[in-house]
Order: sequence, then structure tokens, then C-alpha cells
Amino acid sequence: MMHDYRPYYNTYSMCAPMVFAKDALFSRGSTKRISLINRLRDYVGLRDAPTLFSLHRKMSERLFFDRTWQSHDYGEGYFYQSFDRIGVRGLRDTKARVEAMGLRDLLRGKHVIDIGSNAGFLSLSLADVAKEVVGLENNPDLVAVGNLARDYLRVHNVTFVTSSFEDFTTSKVADVILSFANHSTYDGNTKQSVEEYFEKCKRLLHPGGLLIFESHHPTYESPEALQHVVLVIERLFHIRERKVLMAGTFFDRGRTYIVAERS
Ligand SMILES: C[S@@+](CC[C@H](N)C(=O)[O-])C[C@H]1O[C@@H](n2cnc3c(N)ncnc32)[C@H](O)[C@@H]1O
Repeated sequence: MMHDYRPYYNTYSMCAPMVFAKDALFSRGSTKRISLINRLRDYVGLRDAPTLFSLHRKMSERLFFDRTWQSHDYGEGYFYQSFDRIGVRGLRDTKARVEAMGLRDLLRGKHVIDIGSNAGFLSLSLADVAKEVVGLENNPDLVAVGNLARDYLRVHNVTFVTSSFEDFTTSKVADVILSFANHSTYDGNTKQSVEEYFEKCKRLLHPGGLLIFESHHPTYESPEALQHVVLVIERLFHIRERKVLMAGTFFDRGRTYIVAERS
């Protein structure tokens, strides 16, 4: 059960960092502890930033205190994705991922679909290079947070859609699809097979369009499961690049990255 931190987001409190630190010390599980430390460090950075503090209050209210979506919490009490521009640390280092994958060059001027866009921080961090980004996410609380951040940053070319990937329809095919840790999910919310998933990715891409893939962390995806995924991608696309990512946090490192072209 999460401690009610709501009062600490009504007005800035000098006690809050101590409460977060104490809870981190006594928290069960190292991921929860990291999330609490991220919360603490972000909170301290909000002390002299009232507008950003107000954004954090709204995002926290929606995602942590008034959440409507009762399913797996990928951030374990705080954000899964980081976003420097709004003072958010996360389990995943968005800036390091974008750099390690060379996404700014690959997405320049492109129409992009980001599957399972989470809080939308990766989509938003690419808004200045992409032509347009559509983030699909089935958790409405995460979509609401993405919209809050988007409006705060006055970004106009990113749209977040509350939909499962299975149910998503569009008349507009994409130049690039981002499939980051989404080809299967632990939350029980993905209903299609890996084959159906990548076939749909292919249908949503122009010929010559790119599928950019990131696997799950090796802790959660066995070499055999990953090998099966790679074989499916190979059957449907032409693999242009494959490597193991070593940048970012513990949760980022060791994942397989693939850039594949639709024939
Ligand atoms: C492991 S996280 C990855 C988030 C993001 N792609 C990233 O790499 O930073 C999986 C995300 O997919 C969402 N999700 C799970 N099943 C989904 C589905 N069937 N359709 C769309 N989103 C889904 C979850 O809510 C979660 O935000």
C-alpha cells in the first residue's frame, strides 16, 4: 500500500524528503526503493520552481493518488520513464536510450507510432525532430500524464491515444514504429501473439518504413524467448542493425535493439 504523499504536493514541504527517505529505507524491494529515491531527488529540485511543482502535483494526483487503472505499475510508485525537461527521474533513462539508439537521426521528419507510450516522455522528447508522433497506451492515467506534460511544454505534434495496440486502427500508415518492451507484457493486457503483434506493426508501416525494436530486460526475457521474437521479426522485415544496449540505468542495460525495414 502506497503512503499518501498527496499533502506534500499541495504545498512544498521541507519534511517530505525525510518522509520519502524513511520510506525508501524501509521499502520492500530494490525497485520500489529506487523509485522513492527518484521521487525524493525530483521533489528537492522543485523547491524554487512553483510552475514545475504544480505540474508534478497534477501528474502525481492522476498517476499515483487518484489512479483509475488498477493494473501493473511499471514505475513501482513513481515514474517508469525519465524526462529531464520536466525534472522527472525514472527507472528508465529516456535521454540515454534516445542517444544509444540514435533515435534523433532515425526519426527526423518522420510520422511515428510509439506503441505502449507509457507516460509519453519518450514520445515528447522526440517531438522536436519527428514530424508527428502518435503514442498508444491502454492505461488512461498514463495518457492523462502525457497530455499534462505535452501541454506544459506546448508541444503540438504529439498525440496520445488511449487504446490497446490490438484495438488501434488508423487510416494513416507510419514511417517508423517504436516497439519498446511491448511485444509482450507482464500485466496481462496484451491479448495477441508475438506473430500477430509484428504482423500488425508491418501493416501499419509504409514499404521501406522502419520497425525500431527494444527487447525486455534479460531478467524478464529468456534467450530462447528473445530468439523466437527475433526470428519473427526476421521473417517479416529486413534487419538492418542489431546490438545490445549498454547505456542508461540497470533497467536499460542488456536489452537487444533492432532496426528493421519493411519490405
Ligand atoms: C514495459 S512498459 C514500456 C513503455 C515504453 N514503451 C518504454 O519502453 O518506455 C509497457 C507499456 O505498455 C502498456 N501496455 C501494456 N499492454 C498494452 C497494449 N496491449 N496496448 C498498448 N499499451 C499496452 C503498459 O501500460 C506500459 O505503459
